Amino acid sequence: MMQDMKQQIMDKNEYIKWIQSQDWYQTIELKNGIVTKGKFPTNLRLKHFSDIPFKGKRVLDVGCNSGQYCLVAKAMGAKEVIGVDIDEKRLEQARTLALNEGLEIEYLNKTIFEISDLGVFDIVLCVAVLTEVQDFFGAVESLKRVIGGYAFIELALAKPLLYVSKSKLWLKGNSKIPRGKSLTEVRQTKRGTWVINPSLELLSAVFGEGYTVSYRGAGLRHDMIEVFKRPEKSASKPENKVNPQDE
Ligand SMILES: C[S@@+](CC[C@H](N)C(=O)[O-])C[C@H]1O[C@@H](n2cnc3c(N)ncnc32)[C@H](O)[C@@H]1O
Repeated sequence: MMQDMKQQIMDKNEYIKWIQSQDWYQTIELKNGIVTKGKFPTNLRLKHFSDIPFKGKRVLDVGCNSGQYCLVAKAMGAKEVIGVDIDEKRLEQARTLALNEGLEIEYLNKTIFEISDLGVFDIVLCVAVLTEVQDFFGAVESLKRVIGGYAFIELALAKPLLYVSKSKLWLKGNSKIPRGKSLTEVRQTKRGTWVINPSLELLSAVFGEGYTVSYRGAGLRHDMIEVFKRPEKSASKPENKVNPQDE
């Protein structure tokens, strides 16, 4: 019965019951102190987003799941927020939350490879999705088409090689190899598919000339990367240094 309540505005008790009846991946802090029981404490990720100037911006969250970061972006004043995911169950949860939190957000069932028709965004979020996508290079190309300013991407960078310590029977990281410097790992996921954990250098190379790719810090599960699309130099404005954040 609770399932039928989705995408309706509910009173507080109905809303709590509906939230309790659902299975959640994301831990989402909602109004009235309601929190979804997620599989991961994804609320800890919000520290990475607290200094992002969402106000007035067009924002896209790729692999939005139940829409946690879309809710945050909209609540922080984003002009337009779109979330895309391939999991319709999560999208339905996201739509119900947005409606009941009173935030206007559009959710679309699309893969990361189908986003180019959405236009260009000031801020693109893509958290823990490239870690699941087999066509890493195609996914990055797809993201490039929609990044108009900044992107915040959580993915798994290649880690320093492991070696067996001589003194103890431990596998240890080789500290002489800088984190993510020049290694790229190919890894098999639990589902049996193969994915890439790139080095920061490879990621920068795949984004290419017009983008600055930097390491922002440890993410909740992986590594948080910031990508900035540098403004294109035009013939009339050769020294164009406009920061899209300041527009
Ligand atoms: C590990 S979850 C992360 C969810 C969310 N970004 C977060 O950080 O809480 C990965 C999400 O990516 C979605 N996803 C997986 N492959 C995708 C693809 N090819 N295109 C779009 N979304 C995808 C999944 O359905 C899932 O919601």
